[in-house]
Amino acid sequence: MKRKYGIVLICAALALISGCTETAIVLNNSVAQSDESSDNSQFTDDSQSSTEESSDANSAPNADNDNITVSADEVLEINENIVCEEGKEIHIENGGVLDLNAELDLSGDLYIEGKLIIEEDAKISGSGVIHVINSFDDIDCKGTVTAKIDAPEPVEIDGVTYVGGILLVNKQYSLPRNYGDGLRPEVSEAIAAMRKDTGYSMSLRASSGYRSYETQEWWYNYYCQRDGVEAANTYSAVPGHSEHQAGLAADITSTELSYANTAEGKWLAANCYKYGLIIRYPEDKVDITGYIYEPWHVRYLGKSTAKLVHDSGLCLEEFLEVD
Ligand code: DAL
Ligand code: ZN
Repeated sequence: MKRKYGIVLICAALALISGCTETAIVLNNSVAQSDESSDNSQFTDDSQSSTEESSDANSAPNADNDNITVSADEVLEINENIVCEEGKEIHIENGGVLDLNAELDLSGDLYIEGKLIIEEDAKISGSGVIHVINSFDDIDCKGTVTAKIDAPEPVEIDGVTYVGGILLVNKQYSLPRNYGDGLRPEVSEAIAAMRKDTGYSMSLRASSGYRSYETQEWWYNYYCQRDGVEAANTYSAVPGHSEHQAGLAADITSTELSYANTAEGKWLAANCYKYGLIIRYPEDKVDITGYIYEPWHVRYLGKSTAKLVHDSGLCLEEFLEVD
């Protein structure tokens, strides 16, 4: 197996050109090119590592036996497919960056305290677990993740619950009465971008965006009187429990179930994650969300997290591992 000094030098040059003072490291793992051995690579046993400083093929910098640590102020670029076997660990420490531009077959554990960039063609698959220690903002996912993601525990700040930086409001978790002051700009920008990208051929307008506690209270009481409390609870949040109050949700165009079968509803379901939005109350998750299928209700999470949730096939409660 051949070391790829060229890549290292290119990376070093790019780092210099970009003014980046961090060390760019290319870990050339799993360079098992033959068909029969292409799945057998692991960090040190079958791997090749090279850096500007080190030329020892068996001692990847920051590699401790078969584990890998990306230390603060380091950028580890992985440009060739690697395997992290069961019992092995990758740690991205606070301040460190792992830039994945290949496939990571993860049967072990990946701990993220720094930044994980999953480039467009990159993939993390396998039976292992990606542990988000602090925030989902620490992941910039443009690629594909099928491995399980372990979320941090919920934390409450000023009466608002966050899981890995994601504001959580549902039947269990509420917002303070005075929380929220309008639809957040990122939500309106995402909706505007969708409309623009469809060539303004669809409505894709927010028929309902921000709703204050009091507005939600009015509607909830109205629905209770109209349909009874039990029915109302299946489609309307108790005041203080609506994502609309957080300014992070919008109802797109219609609130009829038939919207799911329209061209626009189908487009929204298939594409909204690309704009940082998810269909918050999916058809097959009614038992978990506690709400009927709402093909119109989108929740803003940001592009990376929305893609992770969309690709996981989980609803937000499952993704965040909460009730
Ligand atoms: N329809 C959703 C659940 C809300 O009222 O926020
Ligand atoms: Zn809604």
